[in-house]
Amino acid sequence: MEGILFPRGVVEGPEDLDAYRSRGGYQAVGRLGELSPQDVIARVDASGLRGRGGAGFPTGKKMALTLECPETPRYVVMNGGEDEPGSNKDRVLMENVPHLLLEGIIVSAYAVQAEKAYLYINHGYGAATRSVETAMREAREAGYWGEDVAGSGFGLELVLVAAPSNYVAGEDTAALEVIEGKEPLPRQKPPFPVTAGLFGKPSLVNNVETFGNIAPIVAKGPEWYRSFGTRESPGTMIFSLGDEMERPGVYEIPLGTPLRRLVEECGGGLKGGKGIKAILPGGPSSGFLLPDHLDIPLDHASLREAGSSIGCGVVKVLAEDDSVVDEVARIADFFARESCGQCPACRMETNMLAALIKKVQQGQGSDALTDQFGKVLAFNKGKGFCSLINMPGPPIESAVRLFPDEFRGA
Ligand SMILES: Cc1cc2nc3c(=O)[nH]c(=O)nc-3n(C[C@H](O)[C@H](O)[C@H](O)COP(=O)(O)O)c2cc1C
Repeated sequence: MEGILFPRGVVEGPEDLDAYRSRGGYQAVGRLGELSPQDVIARVDASGLRGRGGAGFPTGKKMALTLECPETPRYVVMNGGEDEPGSNKDRVLMENVPHLLLEGIIVSAYAVQAEKAYLYINHGYGAATRSVETAMREAREAGYWGEDVAGSGFGLELVLVAAPSNYVAGEDTAALEVIEGKEPLPRQKPPFPVTAGLFGKPSLVNNVETFGNIAPIVAKGPEWYRSFGTRESPGTMIFSLGDEMERPGVYEIPLGTPLRRLVEECGGGLKGGKGIKAILPGGPSSGFLLPDHLDIPLDHASLREAGSSIGCGVVKVLAEDDSVVDEVARIADFFARESCGQCPACRMETNMLAALIKKVQQGQGSDALTDQFGKVLAFNKGKGFCSLINMPGPPIESAVRLFPDEFRGA
């Protein structure tokens, strides 16, 4: 399948500078002398690109907000924390197409007139780190970053930073704390990083995959980009399928592709030809879907209408003999474990939910008990510095709504 990030449709190992250039790489950087920062932002904005780190915020808007802030210096951060269970796309991109990412970062830094960009990479990602390091060296020698980027007069420094391997360390403001040499603890917002980010200065923080889309958009134009995907979710997106599938792995497909094609054609269905009981289409913080939803288009609006979300593209499929309660218990335990603990509401909520679901697993489930989920969630909603506090809600509440009998005990 033809894609934007992997145009040959397959991943062919680390792509070096010559290979990247031979397929049109660094053309966007080569045009920085003739494009103003506003021109670059206008292209990204017109493309309709939305962040691929989970929240789906419009990337062009974020760039504009960063550039509009008069404070300097400004910074760019590539968020390669990637600790969501089942997510592999950022690792695969960093390992295989590092120059595509570097070009996206360089063009974005020019767009917001940043003087330094940090590449924040999960410290467990050895091969990805080495691949990005090699690409940084090659690109520096070729003059794509440094004092004068490709003769445009714009100067940029790139710095690699190891990200701690815990979930919250991927939250954008926690990443900024780590880059500043502190513990990975999210900051209270507002202010948002676009106005007061790294060292209190305007900062553009984007996901690895988001940066992968920037250079092709700037080089080939927003109309080309919009030839993939839907009106409100343009482009392609990389989805991760887990080991429960016949063919696990990462797949780049146009947004708006029916879920069925991803599950059946890409993933080959569940191992052993098992029937499907439920699907979590956007990772552990998304709402469950039923097999009736298999024809739903994978895009932001369609999944929202169906009571779920696209997240960062981790699709988990439950087999007919899987227990939804066990899955929800794993999710609740994950959030309880990964809550950083600095917000009492989050610490309390995630621990209470995990304890309540354990009771269901022990056969003590009842309508009165499941009513508690909603109460705990409603009481704590939005009371944390980051959105982890809101994450257990969609899977738990949708599971109780769609599979009430499983929560009613033995
Ligand atoms: C608990 C938590 C963990 C997160 N982990 C990541 C991560 O590993 N990588 C990532 O890009 N975004 C992660 N995010 C989202 C970031 O805070 C931020 O929205 C994202 O980096 C913005 O980039 P985008 O606009 O390109 O999506 C996380 C958010 C939360 C609340």
